[in-house]
Amino acid sequence: MATPPRELTQNPLKKIWMPCKNGLPEKHISQRKVCMTNCPTLIVTVGLPARGKTYISKKLTRYLNWIGVPTKEFNVGQYRRECVKIYKSFEFFRPDNEEGLKIRKQCAASALNDVRTYLSEGGQVAVFDATNTTRERRDTIMKFADLNGYKQVKLGSPDYTDRNTDEAVEDFMKRIKCYENSYETLDEIKDRDLSYIKIMEVGSRYLVNRVLDHIQSRIVYYLMNIHIAPRSIYLCRHGESELNVKGRIGGDSGLSARGKLFAKFLGKFIQEQNIKDLKVWTSQMKRTIQTAEALGVPYEQWKALNEIDAGVCEEMMYEEIQGHYPLEFALRDQDKYRYRYPKGESYEDLVQRLEPVIMELERQENVLVICHQAVMRCLLAYFLDKTAEELPYLKCPLHTVLKLTPVAYGCKVESISLNVEAVNTHRDRPENVDVSRPPDEALLTVPAHQ
Ligand code: F6P
Repeated sequence: MATPPRELTQNPLKKIWMPCKNGLPEKHISQRKVCMTNCPTLIVTVGLPARGKTYISKKLTRYLNWIGVPTKEFNVGQYRRECVKIYKSFEFFRPDNEEGLKIRKQCAASALNDVRTYLSEGGQVAVFDATNTTRERRDTIMKFADLNGYKQVKLGSPDYTDRNTDEAVEDFMKRIKCYENSYETLDEIKDRDLSYIKIMEVGSRYLVNRVLDHIQSRIVYYLMNIHIAPRSIYLCRHGESELNVKGRIGGDSGLSARGKLFAKFLGKFIQEQNIKDLKVWTSQMKRTIQTAEALGVPYEQWKALNEIDAGVCEEMMYEEIQGHYPLEFALRDQDKYRYRYPKGESYEDLVQRLEPVIMELERQENVLVICHQAVMRCLLAYFLDKTAEELPYLKCPLHTVLKLTPVAYGCKVESISLNVEAVNTHRDRPENVDVSRPPDEALLTVPAHQ
C-alpha cells in the first residue's frame, strides 16, 4: 500500500484518503470561513500626530484576528522607542535634525523588513503604523484625520511618562508643528489609483477609493462603524437555569429559583448604575428572555446571541458525552476552538455568527448583553484581544456582570458579582487529551452538579 500523504487518513468504508488531524478524520473540525485571495494586504496608516492612527491600527488588528484573519501591527514609534531609549523632546522630530531623521528612517526600514518576513511566513494582513516617518503620498492607504481626545491617549504615551501634563502638551504641540510643513494630504485626482480610506472629522465623513477585494471591503465597513464616544458594555449570562443545576449543556430551560433571584438583582444593579440610554439585548432562548423580563425595561432579542449548538450532545451531561462519544469528547479537548459538535457548531462558527453583533456593538453606546457562556467568551475575546486558544476557556461565571469600558488603546474590565449563589459550569482542559485516555482522566475537570 502506498504511504499516505501527510495529514491524510484512509476512510475504512470508502477506501479513500481524507483530510485528518492527529490521525483522525477531520469531519468535525471547522474550517476558517473568511475567504481571502492569496495576496497579503499591507495597510499603512498615515496622518499628522494625534489623529488616531495607533488607535485604529490596534483596533483593526484585534478585529481582524478575531474574525480569523492572521494580522499583526507594526508600530514604527515602538521601534524608535526601542532604539532611542530615552525621549528628550520634540527637537528629535525637527525636519533639520539629521541624526533624528536618520534614526527614524532606520526604524521604518527595520519595521518594513519585519512586515516582509511576517507576510512571507503566512501572515495575511500587516498594519503598518507609520507614525509620521514618511510624507510620501504614494505610501498612503488609510488616513485617519482630526481625531480629538489625543490628550488622553498621547499623554499616556511612553514618551511622556515622567512629564507633567502641561509640559507634555507643550512638547507634543511642537512635535505636531515639526510635521505640518512637510505633510501632504491625499489628492483625489493624483491619488485616484490608490486603494485608501480617508477618515475625516472624527469619523463623520469618509472618502473611500478603489476597494479591491473582500478583505479591503470588510476593513472599510468596520472602520465606518466604529466610534470613540465614551461608553460601557455590560456582559453577563442569564440567571442559573434548570439544566445548569443538573449539569446538562444546551437545551432551552427556564430559570432556577436562584436564577430568578439573580434576574431581580440584575434589575436593581442596572437601576443603580443610572446608565444613559442603555440598550438591553438577549438571545432568543427562554433563560435570557426571563432574565431580561425582570429588568422591566425594553429589550431586543438576537438569534445570533443563542448559545453554541451542541448538536447531538444537546442536553447531555459532560459525563454522558464521555460515555457515548469518548472520541468526540477527546477531540474537543484537543482543539476546543475549532472542534464542531456533530450536527452542531464550533467556537469558530460562533465567532462568525457573532460578527454582526460585534459590528452593532461598535455602533452603539451603552449596551447590556444578556447571553450564554460560550457566546460571552467569544464577545469577551474580541474586546480583550484573546487568542483562539484562550477564548474557549475564558472564565464567565453565572451571576457576574463584566463591565467593559474602552480606555486609550484597550478596554478596562470590572467584574461585579451580584452575590447570588450559582452552580459552576466551567470545565477546564484536562491534562490528558489523548483519544485513548481512561474515562476518569477525561472527567477530572467536570464541575460538580446535582
Ligand atoms: O453549560 C452551560 C453552557 O452554556 C452550555 O449550554 C454550553 O454548551 C456550554 O456552556 C459551553 O461551554 P463549553 O464550551 O465549555 O462546554
